[in-house]
Amino acid sequence: MMCMKKDKILIVGNWKANPDSLRLAKSILSGIEKSSIKAKNIETVICPPVIYLESLRSHSRDIFLGAQNLFPEPHGAFTGEVGYESLLETKIKYVIIGHSERRLSGESDEEIGKKIKIAISVGLNPILCIGEKTRDKDMSYLSVLKQQLTAGFKDVPKAKVRNVTIAYEPVWAIGKGAPRAARPDEIKEVVIFIRRVIGDMYKTSAVPPIRIIYGASVDGSNAKYIVEESGVGGLLVGRASLAPKVWGEIVKALSEIKHD
Ligand code: PGA
Repeated sequence: MMCMKKDKILIVGNWKANPDSLRLAKSILSGIEKSSIKAKNIETVICPPVIYLESLRSHSRDIFLGAQNLFPEPHGAFTGEVGYESLLETKIKYVIIGHSERRLSGESDEEIGKKIKIAISVGLNPILCIGEKTRDKDMSYLSVLKQQLTAGFKDVPKAKVRNVTIAYEPVWAIGKGAPRAARPDEIKEVVIFIRRVIGDMYKTSAVPPIRIIYGASVDGSNAKYIVEESGVGGLLVGRASLAPKVWGEIVKALSEIKHD
């Protein structure tokens, strides 16, 4: 196991633009809380649509909330955006940055690097998503990942590296159209690669103390296997985070993992 000492397993639910009502959001969150509360070795984070954050804050005691994006300005004349000062009012702890669905709609590596920098400076824990669209045989996906990492960490000082969680989310494995989740051996290769890239960036031969999690098509049947076999310290969960029953299966599976 390559989870770091004393770190709990991190499980992050990304609700994307779901569910359709606050009533439903509260009911899903209650279901999630019921299973997460018992799992002492797990840190649970739910990232709902920003409009539900304030209401869900009072609704949840044992899990942390996060946002799915960070607009890189505090406030101002930016129609339709949510300035980060008002986002901070919701007392979130985490923020997902650079999810592939945002990259697909034009978010650049440069913007992502800027958001990571701001997230750290305002005391949030960014979750930087990286992932290749395809796994080509000539392994050029590794240069894609390297580019995303280098840009994401561009302005992260060495002392703050630990604040960033990296979510490896291969795009080809995300969502209901995906053929399968990545295999532990595929994930493990990337985990080793990420540690090497970060180690090189910060000129350290020691294994950089960075938390790496995996996301894409995680469910109750593969969660434990992925964490145990690939060396990740947690999971980023999309669809299954909206289904309390499946979430419960994932949490149960993860709670069986011995980790020190
Ligand atoms: P999925 O999504 O679990 O539904 O594949 C993961 C994600 O997009 O973060």
